[in-house]
Amino acid sequence: MKWSGSESGDFDEAAVAGILRTFSFLTPPIRPSGAVIAEFRRHFEAAAGRPTLIYGATPELVDLANDLGCPQVVSLDWNADTFEAMRRIARTDWSGVIFRHGNWTIPEPEFRGRFGCVACDGGPLFLRYPDQWRTASEAAYGYLDPGGRWVSRAVDWPAEDPPFDACLRRYVDEFLAKQARLDAEGRLAAFKSLTVEIRVRSFQRVVGENFSIDQRKLARRNDEAARILFAEFPEPRLREIAEMNLLRLARPDPQQSELVSIVPPGAARRTLEDIGFVTEVTDLKAAVPACDYVLAGIRS
Ligand SMILES: C[S@@+](CC[C@H](N)C(=O)[O-])C[C@H]1O[C@@H](n2cnc3c(N)ncnc32)[C@H](O)[C@@H]1O
Repeated sequence: MKWSGSESGDFDEAAVAGILRTFSFLTPPIRPSGAVIAEFRRHFEAAAGRPTLIYGATPELVDLANDLGCPQVVSLDWNADTFEAMRRIARTDWSGVIFRHGNWTIPEPEFRGRFGCVACDGGPLFLRYPDQWRTASEAAYGYLDPGGRWVSRAVDWPAEDPPFDACLRRYVDEFLAKQARLDAEGRLAAFKSLTVEIRVRSFQRVVGENFSIDQRKLARRNDEAARILFAEFPEPRLREIAEMNLLRLARPDPQQSELVSIVPPGAARRTLEDIGFVTEVTDLKAAVPACDYVLAGIRS
Protein backbone atom coordinates (compact mmCIF):
# COMPACT_ATOMS: atom_id res chain seq x y z
CA MET A 1 0.00 0.00 0.00
CA LYS A 2 1.41 3.37 -0.94
CA TRP A 3 0.31 6.93 -0.24
CA SER A 4 1.83 9.97 -1.76
CA GLY A 5 2.55 13.06 0.29
CA SER A 6 4.47 11.66 3.27
CA GLU A 7 5.79 14.89 4.81
CA SER A 8 7.97 13.55 7.58
CA GLY A 9 10.93 15.56 6.27
CA ASP A 10 9.15 18.85 6.91
CA PHE A 11 9.91 19.65 10.52
CA ASP A 12 11.34 22.44 12.60
CA GLU A 13 14.42 21.37 14.58
CA ALA A 14 13.83 23.81 17.47
CA ALA A 15 10.20 22.70 17.82
CA VAL A 16 11.27 19.03 17.79
CA ALA A 17 13.78 19.74 20.59
CA GLY A 18 11.03 21.48 22.60
CA ILE A 19 8.69 18.48 22.25
CA LEU A 20 11.45 16.07 23.29
CA ARG A 21 12.16 18.19 26.35
CA THR A 22 8.48 18.26 27.31
CA PHE A 23 8.31 14.46 26.97
CA SER A 24 11.37 13.94 29.18
CA PHE A 25 9.34 15.11 32.24
CA LEU A 26 6.37 12.79 31.74
CA THR A 27 5.53 9.48 33.39
CA PRO A 28 2.42 7.26 33.39
CA PRO A 29 -0.50 7.80 33.68
CA ILE A 30 0.03 10.65 31.23
CA ARG A 31 2.26 8.31 29.23
CA PRO A 32 0.37 5.05 28.62
CA SER A 33 0.84 2.55 31.45
CA GLY A 34 1.47 -1.17 31.00
CA ALA A 35 -2.24 -1.82 31.54
CA VAL A 36 -3.16 0.61 28.73
CA ILE A 37 -0.64 -0.94 26.36
CA ALA A 38 -1.95 -4.43 27.18
CA GLU A 39 -5.43 -3.29 26.10
CA PHE A 40 -4.17 -1.81 22.84
CA ARG A 41 -2.22 -5.05 22.25
CA ARG A 42 -5.40 -7.10 22.57
CA HIS A 43 -7.13 -4.98 19.91
CA PHE A 44 -4.10 -4.83 17.61
CA GLU A 45 -3.87 -8.62 17.77
CA ALA A 46 -7.53 -8.91 16.79
CA ALA A 47 -6.69 -6.85 13.68
CA ALA A 48 -3.42 -8.71 12.97
CA GLY A 49 -2.18 -8.75 9.39
CA ARG A 50 -4.01 -5.52 8.44
CA PRO A 51 -2.67 -1.94 8.34
CA THR A 52 -2.98 0.29 11.43
CA LEU A 53 -3.67 4.00 11.51
CA ILE A 54 -2.56 5.97 14.58
CA TYR A 55 -4.29 9.29 15.31
CA GLY A 56 -1.22 11.16 16.60
CA ALA A 57 2.25 9.64 16.84
CA THR A 58 2.31 8.01 20.27
CA PRO A 59 5.60 6.08 20.23
CA GLU A 60 4.30 3.25 22.41
CA LEU A 61 1.49 2.57 19.89
CA VAL A 62 3.63 2.72 16.76
CA ASP A 63 6.22 0.49 18.47
CA LEU A 64 3.51 -1.96 19.52
CA ALA A 65 2.20 -2.19 15.95
CA ASN A 66 5.76 -2.74 14.68
CA ASP A 67 6.39 -5.40 17.36
CA LEU A 68 3.31 -7.27 16.17
CA GLY A 69 4.52 -7.22 12.56
CA CYS A 70 1.80 -4.86 11.31
CA PRO A 71 2.19 -4.67 7.51
CA GLN A 72 1.70 -0.86 7.37
CA VAL A 73 1.61 1.78 10.09
CA VAL A 74 0.37 5.29 9.28
CA SER A 75 0.51 8.26 11.68
CA LEU A 76 -2.05 11.04 11.12
CA ASP A 77 -1.24 14.29 12.92
CA TRP A 78 -1.44 17.99 12.11
CA ASN A 79 2.03 18.56 13.52
CA ALA A 80 5.04 17.09 11.67
CA ASP A 81 7.33 18.15 14.55
CA THR A 82 5.53 15.75 16.90
CA PHE A 83 6.02 12.85 14.50
CA GLU A 84 9.72 13.60 14.12
CA ALA A 85 10.20 13.94 17.90
CA MET A 86 8.40 10.64 18.56
CA ARG A 87 10.39 8.88 15.84
CA ARG A 88 13.58 9.87 17.65
CA ILE A 89 12.52 8.37 20.99
CA ALA A 90 10.99 5.25 19.46
CA ARG A 91 12.23 1.81 20.42
CA THR A 92 11.59 0.27 16.97
CA ASP A 93 12.60 1.18 13.42
CA TRP A 94 10.11 3.70 11.95
CA SER A 95 11.62 3.78 8.46
CA GLY A 96 8.49 2.03 7.13
CA VAL A 97 6.03 4.22 9.04
CA ILE A 98 4.15 6.73 6.89
CA PHE A 99 3.42 10.18 8.26
CA ARG A 100 0.32 11.86 6.95
CA HIS A 101 -0.24 15.52 7.72
CA GLY A 102 -3.95 15.89 8.44
CA ASN A 103 -6.82 16.47 10.84
CA TRP A 104 -8.62 13.58 12.57
CA THR A 105 -11.94 15.35 12.10
CA ILE A 106 -11.58 15.76 8.31
CA PRO A 107 -11.94 12.50 6.35
CA GLU A 108 -9.04 11.40 4.13
CA PRO A 109 -10.70 9.84 1.05
CA GLU A 110 -7.61 7.73 0.28
CA PHE A 111 -7.90 5.97 3.64
CA ARG A 112 -11.37 4.53 3.04
CA GLY A 113 -11.68 0.88 4.02
CA ARG A 114 -7.92 0.39 4.27
CA PHE A 115 -7.27 -0.28 7.96
CA GLY A 116 -7.85 -3.08 10.44
CA CYS A 117 -7.36 -0.71 13.35
CA VAL A 118 -7.46 3.03 14.05
CA ALA A 119 -5.92 3.82 17.43
CA CYS A 120 -5.35 6.91 19.54
CA ASP A 121 -3.85 7.38 22.99
CA GLY A 122 -5.44 10.29 24.83
CA GLY A 123 -6.49 12.16 21.69
CA PRO A 124 -10.21 12.40 22.65
CA LEU A 125 -9.20 14.89 25.37
CA PHE A 126 -8.26 17.27 22.55
CA LEU A 127 -11.65 17.03 20.82
CA ARG A 128 -14.88 18.93 21.48
CA TYR A 129 -17.86 16.80 22.49
CA PRO A 130 -20.11 15.80 20.82
CA ASP A 131 -19.34 17.22 17.35
CA GLN A 132 -15.59 16.57 17.03
CA TRP A 133 -15.82 13.24 18.85
CA ARG A 134 -18.41 12.30 16.27
CA THR A 135 -16.54 13.51 13.16
CA ALA A 136 -13.27 11.86 14.27
CA SER A 137 -15.12 8.60 15.01
CA GLU A 138 -17.10 8.72 11.75
CA ALA A 139 -13.85 9.24 9.86
CA ALA A 140 -12.38 6.22 11.69
CA TYR A 141 -15.46 4.16 10.79
CA GLY A 142 -14.90 4.98 7.13
CA TYR A 143 -11.20 4.04 7.30
CA LEU A 144 -11.88 0.57 8.72
CA ASP A 145 -12.48 -2.64 6.85
CA PRO A 146 -15.39 -4.81 8.10
CA GLY A 147 -14.51 -6.13 11.57
CA GLY A 148 -11.99 -3.31 12.03
CA ARG A 149 -11.58 -1.51 15.36
CA TRP A 150 -11.45 2.14 16.46
CA VAL A 151 -9.65 2.11 19.82
CA SER A 152 -8.82 5.07 22.01
CA ARG A 153 -7.68 5.72 25.55
CA ALA A 154 -9.97 8.30 27.06
CA VAL A 155 -10.24 9.85 30.50
CA ASP A 156 -13.14 10.20 32.88
CA TRP A 157 -12.91 12.69 35.76
CA PRO A 158 -11.68 11.51 39.16
CA ALA A 159 -14.13 11.59 42.08
CA GLU A 160 -14.54 14.95 43.84
CA ASP A 161 -13.96 13.36 47.21
CA PRO A 162 -11.43 13.94 48.73
CA PRO A 163 -11.27 17.51 47.40
CA PHE A 164 -8.36 18.62 45.20
CA ASP A 165 -6.52 20.52 47.96
CA ALA A 166 -6.58 17.49 50.25
CA CYS A 167 -5.31 15.19 47.46
CA LEU A 168 -2.54 17.63 46.68
CA ARG A 169 -1.43 17.75 50.33
CA ARG A 170 -1.54 13.96 50.59
CA TYR A 171 0.57 13.45 47.45
CA VAL A 172 3.16 15.99 48.65
CA ASP A 173 3.31 14.36 52.11
CA GLU A 174 3.77 10.92 50.53
CA PHE A 175 6.65 12.26 48.45
CA LEU A 176 8.24 13.90 51.52
CA ALA A 177 7.98 10.63 53.45
CA LYS A 178 9.67 8.53 50.79
CA GLN A 179 12.27 10.89 49.32
CA ALA A 180 14.97 10.18 51.95
CA ARG A 181 15.05 6.53 50.85
CA LEU A 182 15.69 7.42 47.20
CA ASP A 183 18.92 8.17 45.35
CA ALA A 184 19.11 11.39 43.31
CA GLU A 185 17.73 9.83 40.11
CA GLY A 186 14.96 8.00 41.98
CA ARG A 187 13.97 11.21 43.73
CA LEU A 188 13.72 13.08 40.43
CA ALA A 189 11.63 10.28 38.94
CA ALA A 190 9.33 10.30 41.99
CA PHE A 191 8.96 14.06 41.73
CA LYS A 192 7.98 13.76 38.06
CA SER A 193 5.33 11.19 39.07
CA LEU A 194 4.11 13.52 41.82
CA THR A 195 3.52 16.36 39.37
CA VAL A 196 1.85 14.02 36.86
CA GLU A 197 -0.44 12.67 39.59
CA ILE A 198 -1.39 16.21 40.62
CA ARG A 199 -2.03 17.13 37.02
CA VAL A 200 -4.38 14.18 36.53
CA ARG A 201 -6.14 14.97 39.83
CA SER A 202 -6.72 18.52 38.66
CA PHE A 203 -9.39 17.04 36.33
CA GLN A 204 -11.70 16.42 39.32
CA ARG A 205 -15.06 17.61 38.04
CA VAL A 206 -13.76 20.45 35.91
CA VAL A 207 -16.44 19.77 33.31
CA GLY A 208 -19.37 21.94 32.29
CA GLU A 209 -21.89 21.69 29.47
CA ASN A 210 -21.21 18.92 26.96
CA PHE A 211 -18.35 17.71 29.15
CA SER A 212 -16.23 20.69 28.14
CA ILE A 213 -13.36 21.48 30.48
CA ASP A 214 -13.76 24.58 32.65
CA GLN A 215 -10.45 26.18 31.65
CA ARG A 216 -10.38 28.71 34.48
CA LYS A 217 -10.90 26.10 37.15
CA LEU A 218 -8.28 23.81 35.63
CA ALA A 219 -5.77 26.66 35.35
CA ARG A 220 -6.43 27.78 38.95
CA ARG A 221 -5.78 24.30 40.29
CA ASN A 222 -2.55 23.83 38.38
CA ASP A 223 -1.35 27.32 39.30
CA GLU A 224 -2.07 26.72 42.97
CA ALA A 225 -0.30 23.34 42.89
CA ALA A 226 2.74 24.89 41.19
CA ARG A 227 2.86 27.69 43.78
CA ILE A 228 2.90 25.14 46.63
CA LEU A 229 5.54 22.96 44.97
CA PHE A 230 7.77 25.94 44.15
CA ALA A 231 7.63 27.02 47.81
CA GLU A 232 8.30 23.55 49.26
CA PHE A 233 10.84 22.40 46.65
CA PRO A 234 12.86 25.41 45.46
CA GLU A 235 15.71 23.33 43.93
CA PRO A 236 16.03 24.34 40.26
CA ARG A 237 15.67 20.78 38.85
CA LEU A 238 12.45 20.16 40.79
CA ARG A 239 11.13 23.60 40.01
CA GLU A 240 11.65 22.95 36.32
CA ILE A 241 9.66 19.69 36.51
CA ALA A 242 6.76 21.38 38.33
CA GLU A 243 6.77 24.26 35.88
CA MET A 244 6.80 22.01 32.81
CA ASN A 245 4.10 19.58 33.98
CA LEU A 246 1.74 22.01 35.72
CA LEU A 247 2.15 25.35 33.96
CA ARG A 248 3.25 24.50 30.43
CA LEU A 249 2.13 21.04 29.35
CA ALA A 250 -0.57 21.38 26.64
CA ARG A 251 -1.00 24.97 27.84
CA PRO A 252 0.21 27.43 25.21
CA ASP A 253 -1.81 30.18 26.89
CA PRO A 254 -1.94 30.39 30.75
CA GLN A 255 -5.77 30.63 30.69
CA GLN A 256 -6.49 28.16 27.89
CA SER A 257 -5.13 24.63 27.69
CA GLU A 258 -5.28 22.45 24.58
CA LEU A 259 -7.40 19.94 26.51
CA VAL A 260 -11.02 20.36 25.55
CA SER A 261 -13.33 17.71 26.99
CA ILE A 262 -13.49 14.89 29.54
CA VAL A 263 -16.23 12.47 28.52
CA PRO A 264 -17.49 9.62 30.72
CA PRO A 265 -17.71 6.14 29.16
CA GLY A 266 -21.54 6.07 28.81
CA ALA A 267 -21.68 9.20 26.63
CA ALA A 268 -18.57 8.17 24.70
CA ARG A 269 -20.14 4.81 23.92
CA ARG A 270 -23.42 6.33 22.70
CA THR A 271 -21.57 8.48 20.15
CA LEU A 272 -19.90 5.43 18.64
CA GLU A 273 -23.08 3.33 18.71
CA ASP A 274 -24.99 6.09 16.85
CA ILE A 275 -22.43 5.77 14.06
CA GLY A 276 -22.92 2.00 13.86
CA PHE A 277 -20.06 0.64 15.96
CA VAL A 278 -20.49 -2.19 18.41
CA THR A 279 -18.73 -0.85 21.52
CA GLU A 280 -16.61 -2.25 24.29
CA VAL A 281 -15.25 -0.31 27.27
CA THR A 282 -12.44 -1.46 29.53
CA ASP A 283 -12.35 0.46 32.78
CA LEU A 284 -8.75 0.85 33.91
CA LYS A 285 -9.36 2.83 37.11
CA ALA A 286 -8.25 -0.09 39.25
CA ALA A 287 -5.11 -0.81 37.23
CA VAL A 288 -4.02 2.78 36.61
CA PRO A 289 -4.04 5.45 39.32
CA ALA A 290 -6.17 7.74 37.15
CA CYS A 291 -9.55 7.56 35.49
CA ASP A 292 -8.48 5.98 32.26
CA TYR A 293 -10.66 3.77 30.14
CA VAL A 294 -10.14 2.22 26.75
CA LEU A 295 -13.04 2.67 24.35
CA ALA A 296 -13.29 0.34 21.38
CA GLY A 297 -15.75 0.49 18.51
CA ILE A 298 -15.93 -2.53 16.26
CA ARG A 299 -17.20 -2.03 12.71
CA SER A 300 -19.68 -4.74 11.82
C1 LIG B 1 -2.47 12.02 20.44
S1 LIG B 1 -2.63 13.45 21.34
C2 LIG B 1 -2.41 12.97 23.00
C3 LIG B 1 -1.06 12.71 23.51
C4 LIG B 1 -0.55 11.35 23.23
N1 LIG B 1 -1.01 10.43 24.21
C5 LIG B 1 0.94 11.30 23.16
O1 LIG B 1 1.45 10.23 22.99
O2 LIG B 1 1.58 12.30 23.22
C6 LIG B 1 -1.39 14.62 20.96
C7 LIG B 1 -1.17 14.86 19.49
O3 LIG B 1 -2.39 15.09 18.86
C8 LIG B 1 -2.24 16.01 17.79
N2 LIG B 1 -3.58 16.50 17.49
C9 LIG B 1 -4.49 16.99 18.37
N3 LIG B 1 -5.66 17.25 17.75
C10 LIG B 1 -5.50 16.85 16.44
C11 LIG B 1 -6.38 16.82 15.31
N4 LIG B 1 -7.65 17.24 15.38
N5 LIG B 1 -5.89 16.33 14.14
C12 LIG B 1 -4.61 15.90 14.05
N6 LIG B 1 -3.73 15.91 15.09
C13 LIG B 1 -4.19 16.38 16.27
C14 LIG B 1 -1.22 17.00 18.32
O4 LIG B 1 -0.51 17.58 17.26
C15 LIG B 1 -0.32 16.06 19.16
O5 LIG B 1 0.73 15.58 18.39
